[in-house]
Amino acid sequence: MAPVVAVTNQKGGVGKTTTVVNLAAYAGLGGLRTLVIDSDPQANATSALGVLPSAAGSIYTHAEPMATSAENVWLVPAGPELAEHARPWHDAGHELRALHMAVQQLQNSFELILIDCPPNFTALPRNALLVATQVVIPVQCEYFALEGLSQLLAHIEELHGSAPLADWQILLTMASPGALARSVIAEVRRHFGDRVLSVEIPRDEAAAVAPSHGRALLDHDPLCPAALAYLAVTRELLSRWGSKTSRREACPTAS
Ligand SMILES: Nc1ncnc2c1ncn2[C@@H]1O[C@H](COP(=O)(O)OP(=O)(O)O)[C@@H](O)[C@H]1O
Ligand SMILES: [Mg+2]
Repeated sequence: MAPVVAVTNQKGGVGKTTTVVNLAAYAGLGGLRTLVIDSDPQANATSALGVLPSAAGSIYTHAEPMATSAENVWLVPAGPELAEHARPWHDAGHELRALHMAVQQLQNSFELILIDCPPNFTALPRNALLVATQVVIPVQCEYFALEGLSQLLAHIEELHGSAPLADWQILLTMASPGALARSVIAEVRRHFGDRVLSVEIPRDEAAAVAPSHGRALLDHDPLCPAALAYLAVTRELLSRWGSKTSRREACPTAS
């Protein structure tokens, strides 16, 4: 069964969408049939993958996956009705069952499913966490990095009750070369040990520009530092999840 990965953090601007788009692109390049589910009404993953946000529906209306600008990557876009599901965290309704069924069906057609979550604690990330088999939590390398993280982890634990979701990882994003970022990285690593992925994503202008062209980094500037870091992170995650890409050699910088 395809891993279903929720990329989540209630903080905005920490690199969730950038992570989803670039993980998907590298997994696709490696030969995995990859699906991105845009579960954020802001539809940033939809446009970053070169798809115009439209009224085509969303995962909650069983919208059909569509092709994207990235090879082997399909998208269930964000639709306007997603906003209706942005109810408080504990107020998730019947739609969870519909989401479960939609994702279960898609698991047969894809080898990797990534869900981009909005920056809040509404029913949208809650439902994504409930259908996920894995979680990636992007954490920005800044002073307040750890703030809110314990609340998110408590929510994740509580959601899964007696069978807690064991497979979650932290990805450090937007790391600047300065001393502040170094000390934040050291603190997060001390606190969370091997929950933290070994590669950090550097702050890199190319990562901010690529979405405006509707492209992932590998199609925009494959040798920029953030692209190389996302390639390494994709390989680390896929090997943790036991996913086998058929064309690893297709990645130009693979060592
Ligand atoms: N490594 C990076 N270096 C520079 N800018 C980045 C990087 N990663 C993301 N960004 C930019 O930071 C902003 C927030 O990233 P985004 O992925 O949209 O975060 P989120 O989905 O958590 O809100 C976007 O403008 C994005 O292009
Ligand atoms: Mg986003």
